[in-house]
Amino acid sequence: MKVKVSRKAHFNAAHRLHREDWDDAKNNVVFGRCNNPNFHGHNYDLVVSVYGEIDPETGFVMDMKVLKELIKERIEDVLDHKNLNIEIPEFKNLNPTAENIAVVIWNKLRPHINASKELEVVLFETPRNFVTYSG
Ligand code: NI
Repeated sequence: MKVKVSRKAHFNAAHRLHREDWDDAKNNVVFGRCNNPNFHGHNYDLVVSVYGEIDPETGFVMDMKVLKELIKERIEDVLDHKNLNIEIPEFKNLNPTAENIAVVIWNKLRPHINASKELEVVLFETPRNFVTYSG
């Protein structure tokens, strides 16, 4: 029996979407308000899901205490209250769009979750805009 278990998390972070190889006009057209040179913040909501067989011994797909700690240590403690462009090495040369942030989060978590389980990351940049990455 396969079940998906999910944990919600949250962090605030600042970013700027920009390409150095584009002029200001093109950056402004493509990235709009997210191109603001002085950065701006988002309240990111995160849903991390693990999908797999229920362990017959524990009845768990994954111990939620472990998942909670993993998200706190690897994601919230790393990204919360940070400027993603400046402080997070993965975004030195990668635009911190919701899509790319979701992929970075997935890559940070994947090594720490049992290989027999599937991992899915859903990242809300606003209450209405969200992206999903499952590897
Ligand atoms: Ni933005």
